[in-house]
Amino acid sequence: MIKIENLKFKYPSSSQLILDIPKFQMKKGEKIFLYGPSGCGKTTFLEVLAGINSPLEGIVEISGCDVTKMSASEKDQFRADQMGYIFQSFNLIPYLNVQENITLPLYFSSKKRTRVSAANENKKTTEICKLLGIEPYLTQPVTELSVGQQQRVAAARAIIGQPSLILADEPTSALDFNHREKFIKLLFALCNQHQTSVLFVSHDRTLEKLFDRSLSLHEINISSKVDEDAL
Ligand SMILES: Nc1ncnc2c1ncn2[C@@H]1O[C@H](COP(=O)(O)OP(=O)(O)O)[C@@H](O)[C@H]1O
Ligand SMILES: [Mg+2]
Repeated sequence: MIKIENLKFKYPSSSQLILDIPKFQMKKGEKIFLYGPSGCGKTTFLEVLAGINSPLEGIVEISGCDVTKMSASEKDQFRADQMGYIFQSFNLIPYLNVQENITLPLYFSSKKRTRVSAANENKKTTEICKLLGIEPYLTQPVTELSVGQQQRVAAARAIIGQPSLILADEPTSALDFNHREKFIKLLFALCNQHQTSVLFVSHDRTLEKLFDRSLSLHEINISSKVDEDAL
């Protein structure tokens, strides 16, 4: 699903490498928990996988395609077709209702649209929302929902259209433990329907036991090891 070799990344404004990852692999359908303290590069790593940040060198293969070889527009399309991204702050569109927020990715990807198929769009949205417990709010503005409900809308938006990979950036940090655990279990139930892989990053390890595999970014990232030793 994901194959990384000799990935090096730094921001143009900085002289230090943020990511130096000799090797990282993830299997199809696997659910990985990746942890590390704030500032260690978790978001940067997800953005490299999503093709939002371009590495200096290395191979970043997703579903057999090397994203580093793609043009900017090819990367955008590949992300829209193959991935679902759950942002730390959800990034819901405030002037759209719940249903409109959830179906938004179908307008950016004909592949996702085809997988859901126009006739079944409402049915699919309702099915996902029923499982997540947000079906009563479909026509409500997202601004009227609680944080927990907004998080479920963000998850529904990421999962619709059967992406092969979900990237989740600490989307549970605003919830208490019971709600976080329940959220992960619901997300996994949806992912298991189509063998969707999940890469979930967090600074808080309390949820790691729910995943197939848990590892720290320090374990795979040489540059952050250097930082750690320097502390
Ligand atoms: N756009 C950017 N430009 C320059 N440096 C950045 C940028 N975004 C993040 N950084 C730096 O990269 C490092 C990793 O940040 P980040 O990936 O956000 O960490 P995490 O998600 O683990 O908290 C931090 O030192 C941060 O200050
Ligand atoms: Mg982050």
